Amino acid sequence: MTPVSINDYLNKENPWTSRLLGLTPFQKKRDIQQVENEYNLDKYARLLEFDFKTAAEYKAKEFEQAGMHPTEGLVFISKGDEIFKTSVEKARTIYYDLIQSKLNKYASENICELGCGYGYNIEALGKNFYGGDYSSNAVKIGQKIGLDVREFNYYTENDYEFIKPNSTIFTTHSIEQIPDATVIINNLEKQKNKINYIVHFEPTIVNERSTMLGLLRNKYLELNDYNRNLISVLKSRPDIEILELETDIFGLVPLNTTNLIVWKFKN
Ligand SMILES: C[S@@+](CC[C@H](N)C(=O)[O-])C[C@H]1O[C@@H](n2cnc3c(N)ncnc32)[C@H](O)[C@@H]1O
Repeated sequence: MTPVSINDYLNKENPWTSRLLGLTPFQKKRDIQQVENEYNLDKYARLLEFDFKTAAEYKAKEFEQAGMHPTEGLVFISKGDEIFKTSVEKARTIYYDLIQSKLNKYASENICELGCGYGYNIEALGKNFYGGDYSSNAVKIGQKIGLDVREFNYYTENDYEFIKPNSTIFTTHSIEQIPDATVIINNLEKQKNKINYIVHFEPTIVNERSTMLGLLRNKYLELNDYNRNLISVLKSRPDIEILELETDIFGLVPLNTTNLIVWKFKN
């Protein structure tokens, strides 16, 4: 892993530099139509055309479609405000080791990933994993390769009923797609008797960010209309206990960093 400066990452070659500076207009509205177009009809519909046997093969195809060698390509990653250049393989190993260690710590009989896509994490992390995703094409891929995934929409209260008793809920970069997390926490509350822990690896606006890179991260989230309030909604609720909170713990994309948030409903 080679340490690099912010200028190595954010310069003329990175389209985000001019977007963040306001030189190139960019503003998304992240409603369900955006998710339908970006994920269901584009990314997952294109993957569904392939007939692979494992989620790992679909993930490799995703990297190829993004113009990157699945293992040897080089990427920028971050820890806190430090940026590094490393191989795709190394970056993914660090990220999945982190997820695995936290899920081991907060394990339950069942582990449910909400917003699981076609189930890459479900295949990689364990047999007692199940999940749901908005995209019908992602779910078709997951079911085709034998994973326990189904259609699930964060905005639909009844969809949360598939959560099994004695579950840990896990999310990674899917609540990022929901600008206001209030609906998710309210819907999870209705299933709270079945849930032991909730473990998020999610980007969100962090009001306390004060460095140049931190402020650019908040701006990036705002322009993409990614989640704005997961941490503040959790902190505002007296019925919730936050067990772990580490912001910018890792960035597979240094502007779109992952925050670790572990919480539970108080008894
Ligand atoms: C960046 S992908 C992450 C997928 C998966 N967690 C992973 O790590 O491979 C974001 C996912 O969120 C899903 N998503 C977006 N909006 C959703 C919603 N309203 N309900 C459920 N899933 C949603 C998308 O379909 C997509 O699969």
